[in-house]
Amino acid sequence: MSQILDGRALARDLRVQIKREVKAMVAAGGPRPKLAVILAGEDPASAVYVRNKEKMAARVGIDAVTLRLPADVPAAALMAEIDRLNADPSVHGILLQLPLPQGISAEEEIALLERVDPRKDVDGFHPDNLGLLMAGRPRFVACTPQGCMRLLEAGGVPLAGRQAVVIGRSLIVGKPIAQLLLAADATVTICHSRTQALAEIVRQADIVIAAVGRPGLVGGDWIKPGAAVIDVGVNSVEGALVGDVDFEAAASRAGWITPVPGGVGPMTIACLLENTRQAALRARPAP
Ligand code: GUN
Repeated sequence: MSQILDGRALARDLRVQIKREVKAMVAAGGPRPKLAVILAGEDPASAVYVRNKEKMAARVGIDAVTLRLPADVPAAALMAEIDRLNADPSVHGILLQLPLPQGISAEEEIALLERVDPRKDVDGFHPDNLGLLMAGRPRFVACTPQGCMRLLEAGGVPLAGRQAVVIGRSLIVGKPIAQLLLAADATVTICHSRTQALAEIVRQADIVIAAVGRPGLVGGDWIKPGAAVIDVGVNSVEGALVGDVDFEAAASRAGWITPVPGGVGPMTIACLLENTRQAALRARPAP
C-alpha cells in the first residue's frame, strides 16, 4: 500500500511557519504582507478558491483584498486595476484569478499577466519569473508546481536521476513543474494531448504528475510499482471531487500518492501565502 502525501497536514505546517515569520517581520517594524486578488466573473470554482485564499491569508496574518468585477468587464478596465495595484506600495502581491471571463481573448490574457509588476507576481506567471525559473534563478515559483515539489520533498521521494513524466503542458502547472523537476536532476518527459502511447510512457515513470483535468485519464495499471503519483486534477463528477488518476487502483501500486481532495489543492494556497510573505520581505520601503 502506498504512502498518502497529505497536503492538508503539510499545508497546515507551512501556514504555522508563515504565521510565525509574518509576526516576526511585523514586530521588527516591517510591513504586514498584503495580497490583492482580482476576480472577474462568476466562475463557481474560482469563487471557492478565492474565498479559501482570503480565509487562509487571515489565519496567518496576511491582509487580503479581493476586487470582484463583473463578467463583462473590458480588458482595459482590468489593465487599469492592475496599474493601480502595481503603483500601490501597500500591496505586495497581485493575483489575477484564472480563468478570465469569455469576453477576454487569449492575447488580452497574456497582456494582462505581463502587466503585473513582476516583483508583485506571486502567481509566478509573468514571463520574467518564468524565465528566471528556467535560468535556474527562481524568484516567484507558481504555487501549484511549488506545492507539488514540497509534497515530493516531504515524502522523501528520490528525484535525482529518476524518470519523471508530466502530463499537461500548461503555463500554470505543466511547464513550471517540468523545470522544477529538471532542477532537481530528474529526467523529465512532458506529455500532452498530442502525445502518442501515453500509457507506455507513464509506465516507465518513477514520478507521475497528472495535470490535465480529465477524470480517470491515468489508469491504475499505468503506474509502475513504487512510483510517486501527484494528481493535480480537480474534476467534479456527480457532485464529488476527483483527480485525473484512478486513485484506488493507482494507490495499490504506487509508493506515494496524493489524494483529491486534500493533496495538491491545500498546498497551492499555502504556497501563495508564502510567495506573498516573500514579496513583502523583498519590497522596498515606501519613500
Ligand atoms: N486558477 C486556478 N489555479 C490558479 C492559480 O494558481 N492562480 C490563478 N491566478 N488562477 C488560478
